[in-house]
Amino acid sequence: MERTLALKTVKKVGETVTLCGWVHARRNMGKIVFLDMRDRSGIVQVVIVSKELDSVSHGALPEIRTEFVLQIEGIVNMRKKANDALPTGSVEILATKITILNTSKTPPFEIENEDRQANEELRLKYRYLDLRHTRMARNMRLRHTLVKEVRDFLCAQDFIEIETSLLTKGTPEGAREYIIPSRIYPGTFYVLPQSPQQFKQLLMVAGFERYFQIAKCFRDEDQRGDRQPEFTQIDVEMSFVEQEDVMNLMEAMMIKTIQKVSPEKKILATPFPRLTYQAAMERYGTDRPDLRVNKDDPHELAFCWVVDFPFFEKTEEGGWMFTHNPFSAPQPAYKEQLLTKENIGGIIAAQYDMVCNGYEVGGGGIRNHTPEALRAVFEIMGLSSDIINERFGHILEALEYGTPPHGGIALGLDRLVAILANEPNIREVIAFPKTGDARDPLMGAPSSMPQKALDDVHIKLKN
Ligand code: AMO
Repeated sequence: MERTLALKTVKKVGETVTLCGWVHARRNMGKIVFLDMRDRSGIVQVVIVSKELDSVSHGALPEIRTEFVLQIEGIVNMRKKANDALPTGSVEILATKITILNTSKTPPFEIENEDRQANEELRLKYRYLDLRHTRMARNMRLRHTLVKEVRDFLCAQDFIEIETSLLTKGTPEGAREYIIPSRIYPGTFYVLPQSPQQFKQLLMVAGFERYFQIAKCFRDEDQRGDRQPEFTQIDVEMSFVEQEDVMNLMEAMMIKTIQKVSPEKKILATPFPRLTYQAAMERYGTDRPDLRVNKDDPHELAFCWVVDFPFFEKTEEGGWMFTHNPFSAPQPAYKEQLLTKENIGGIIAAQYDMVCNGYEVGGGGIRNHTPEALRAVFEIMGLSSDIINERFGHILEALEYGTPPHGGIALGLDRLVAILANEPNIREVIAFPKTGDARDPLMGAPSSMPQKALDDVHIKLKN
């Protein structure tokens, strides 16, 4: 289909073009009809004057409603009065031929209506219509561009992208996990990963040295504006590095990619300020402080690093639990204390969080690359050696085969895009998100299963 995109019409004054797209708006002004035609590039105004149309097009005209899909042939003219609010506002297309490619039912809500908070259930049920909104389409493109720039940056730094497994085994990172029953082995389950943490460490054992992945992660936890059960990490791991190496590289990546994808943003301070966990708690009462000077300025980005987290905290039962994840190493000065299990509450982890405008946008650490150190973490948590071997035997064993010192980080892609897009909720930057109570109203998930499917995976439901 020969066609010209809406945005390209500005360069084609005087030429005959064919537009394909959706009717964004229709205005009848007596003898003249105006259509705003929308395609992936934007919106352009079409002017319809009956006498300029052929007879078939003329017959179709009364039927045309918003969201119909049309092919329109016409001549690009300069507008008498330009509309500066539109990138194509200097031109309009005088239609000579209109073909209806498809009709549309009246959408269940007004697509370009800005007051859209009221009906999120409906927006998600008809997400394919909601995504036609200019702002939503822009968010999806921003997300795409950010991912592309991140990929380009990391590839130029000699990282390679490796996909890791999704049907896997549980990994302790603080959240409840989604489980998938096995058909072939009755009574056993796969687990969807909370993050690729163990796999990326195994890739360091394998010698890749520089890995990244735009990784889907799954956590069955309570929803909030900045949490989804299914979300995406920019996941990175490197060998032969210290904490500063990872932090500096990630900082450079953020500065460079944001300059490219959102040049209007101002990063307040570079290098990003570094705060210890203790200082952050004392000064701001939170470990993700919002350091913006002017919170009304939509373009201000205040990044900082929070470092020196306590490794363990006391549980209600009086035992010990890691604060971030068990794979982190202690800071070098505390290595001995971890191995001898002394001063447990005082051990500081080689763990760092990247914070932006009050959101935790990333977290990472230098890892325990010897089995003794990792085993000591599990022992401090009170796990028996049987449990340790059953749940973590594979990674403890891997650490015995020449594991390089390594560390990494994962950035929350959804949170980063939401901040850049000035969206208060990550659902606005995910194409098909779940509701606040973990449902997908469009697909109807989660859903019940036919008895046969349950039988296949050896599952009997409680009444
Ligand atoms: P962590 O659990 O801190 O670390 O996660 C890293 C980043 O992922 C984002 N994030 C989320 N985003 C949306 N919805 C969620 N439910 C959600 N949970 C986390 C946050 C967070 O900072 N394996 C380690 C990383 C590492 O040590 O390298 C990990 O997953 O922005």
